[in-house]
Formats: sequence, C-alpha cells, structure tokens
Amino acid sequence: MNILITGGAGFIGSHVVKHFVTKYPAYHIYNLDALTYAGNLENLQSISDKPNYTFVKGDIKDIPFVNDLFEKYRFKAVIHLAAESHVDRSITNPNAFIETNVLGTTNLLNAFNKLWKANFDGKQFYHISTDEVYGSLGKTGLFTEKTSYDPQSPYAASKAASDHMVRSFGNTFGMPYKISNCSNNYGPNQFPEKLIPLFIHNIQNSIELPVYGDGQYTRDWLYVTDHVLAIDTIFHKGKKGETYNVGGLNEWTNIDLIHLLCEQLDRKLNKPKGTSAKLIRFVKDRAGHDKRYAIDASKIQAELDWKPQVTFEEGLSKTVDWYLQNLSWLKNVTSGVYQEYYKKMYG
Ligand code: NAD
Ligand code: TYD
Repeated sequence: MNILITGGAGFIGSHVVKHFVTKYPAYHIYNLDALTYAGNLENLQSISDKPNYTFVKGDIKDIPFVNDLFEKYRFKAVIHLAAESHVDRSITNPNAFIETNVLGTTNLLNAFNKLWKANFDGKQFYHISTDEVYGSLGKTGLFTEKTSYDPQSPYAASKAASDHMVRSFGNTFGMPYKISNCSNNYGPNQFPEKLIPLFIHNIQNSIELPVYGDGQYTRDWLYVTDHVLAIDTIFHKGKKGETYNVGGLNEWTNIDLIHLLCEQLDRKLNKPKGTSAKLIRFVKDRAGHDKRYAIDASKIQAELDWKPQVTFEEGLSKTVDWYLQNLSWLKNVTSGVYQEYYKKMYG
C-alpha cells in the first residue's frame, strides 16, 4: 500500500513519517518535501534506510511533477502536512502562503481526484490543518468542529482556504477526505522560529526572550507524539468526510509558559534560580495577534477513543532535554540564513 506523506521533513511531518514507517511495515511511505528552510532530512536519519521508506524531493506547487508522481506510484492515501507554517512569516510574505498552502494543496487534490475515481478501494486524502482557522477566542469558550471559520492571519486564512478546497472536492467530486484541526504542537525537531524552541535556543545562548505584547495570549499546547497518535487514529478509524479537532486540554498564557521554561532551563543548566527569566523582554506585539486558542476535543475522544498521553510538564521537560542533547541539530538550523531571518524579525 503506497502512502504519500507531504512535508515529512518538517517538524510534525517527520514524527508522522517515523511513526508510520516503523509501525506499519506493510505500508510503503513516500515522503514528498521541498526541503524549504523548515525541512531537514536530519530529522529522519533513524528510518532513512528502511525498505518501506522513500524520500522524494519536490514541490507541491509544481503541477507536472505532482501529476507524474501520482501517476507513477498510484497512492492509496495521502497525509498532507506540507505547508508554510509560521504566522510571523505570513505577515511579511503572505503570497508564499497562498502559493503553497492553497495552490499546492489544490494541485494534490487534482492529482488524487484522478486516481481515486479510477478505483476507489478505500482511498483517502487526509488533510492536516490548524485550530487557527477558527480565529480568536475571548476568555471563555472552545473551538468545536462546528465553530465558524474566522481566520485572522494570512497563515490562518491560507489554511482555512485549503480546508475549504478539500471539502469542496469532497462535495463536488465525492472525493474521500478527512480533516483534522490541531492546536499548538511542541516537541523535538521544531524549527526555532516558534515560541518554545526559539526560547530554548535563546536561553542556551543568553539571548533576550522577545515576548510579544503583554504576554497574556493563550495557546493550547499538545506534545507532538500525541498529535501523531491522533493522526494515526483518524487515518485508520476516522470516518470519511469528517473533521476532528485535536487539542491538549492544556491552556497556558505565554508568560506563564515562558516562566516554566525558564525554571526548567535554570535547573537543567545548573544556573541560579531566576537567571533565564532575566532575559525576558516585552516587545512590540505581533500584528493582528490572536488572543486565545482552545480546542474542544470531545468528538475525537468519544468517537475514536483518543486522548493526550503526555502531560505538559513531562512533554516540556522531554523537549528541553532533546534540545540540550542535540546542540549540533540546533547549530545547523540556526546558522547562515537563520541569522538574517532573526535580524529582520527581531532587530
Ligand atoms: P514545518 O514548517 O515544520 O514543516 C513544513 C514542511 O513542509 C517542511 O519540511 C517544508 O520543507 C515542507 N514544505 C513547505 N513548502 C513545501 C512545498 N511547496 N512543497 C513541498 N514541501 C513543502 O511545519 P509543521 O509545524 O510541522 O506543520 C505541519 C503541518 O501541520 C502544517 O500543515 C501546519 O499547518 C499543520 N499544523 C501545525 C501545527 C503546529 O503547532 N506546528 C499545529 C496544527 C497544524
Ligand atoms: P508561535 O509559536 O509562533 O505559534 P502560533 O502563533 O501559531 O500560536 O507563537 C506562540 C505564541 O507565542 C503566540 O501567542 C505568539 C507568541 N510569541 C512571542 O511572544 N514571541 C515570539 O518570539 C514568538 C515566536 C511567539
């Protein structure tokens, strides 16, 4: 059974690829990734020579390439994660997000649409999306699968558009699809532009911690391997044409999370209590910053019997340990182009 996983060299995608290649030897996993700044084959070293794994370097924006790939391997299923994924970058370059997240997704849908029609045989297009499509919550309430879309950033708008395209192929052509919308992930191999790995990297290097606005923004954090288990569950047990919200039931204001991270790093780096927190700087807010995200995950819990396994303290501790033990990974991804990005973003 040939399965295409897109974006498999990125943060979540690499965990998904490792899980599927290891747990399901009867599947052949094709990992399609353009290796943008966020894609890194180092993430996949542990499975790169497995017989049921093939890496394909390519761009989902390239229509002839995508069509040829589907023709050649006749995938039974697609798990689509490839995307531009960072909100701050979407503010400086929205077009890149439309091109990859909307047009790229549509190219995959067109290619898959030809295949499954030829022979249905249990095929599925599984689209991995975000809770950010629902917009921003006030102090109370949770996002359910029925919450209206109200994306606020160019990233969120591009993911919302891609979700709509997937559903439109289901409605118009009968294409078998599934969608899941997940909250903020954290864990090993996350590119240090997102809050947690960026701040671990900065603390290690005694660089200031740029907290946007008043730091009272709230996110619902999920350890990446719990997201992978949700993806496995939805892939195998989820119903065709359904959407599932996935979340950690784990809300933190940014500033509380940052203090917890600082405490953990002080302890693990044998620094006096309070050392890392001295690096905190409140800086200019992100434009259009969403106040709060929080997921109601009761549908996937009740229907598919999934729930998070890793507590936040445990997950954060494992994440910090991983970054402290993988200094060369961090060094490789923060050299060169990263330095220019950092200067442009944070001055
Ligand atoms: P990431 O930025 O770490 O990885 C994205 C991967 O996609 C990279 O390997 C990159 O090289 C590849 N890619 C980008 N453009 C491509 C293109 N045009 N063609 C082929 N490959 C391309 O992202 P992530 O954090 O792992 O997120 C993966 C998916 O999960 C995304 O669709 C994202 O919207 C979704 N998601 C992420 C989170 C989160 O907290 N990180 C939460 C919910 C949903
Ligand atoms: P991020 O990891 O970029 O994820 P998202 O924007 O998709 O939720 O940011 C998480 C939160 O942390 C968000 O409220 C923005 C905030 N943040 C900072 O305060 N400083 C930073 O340098 C970054 C990258 C994020």
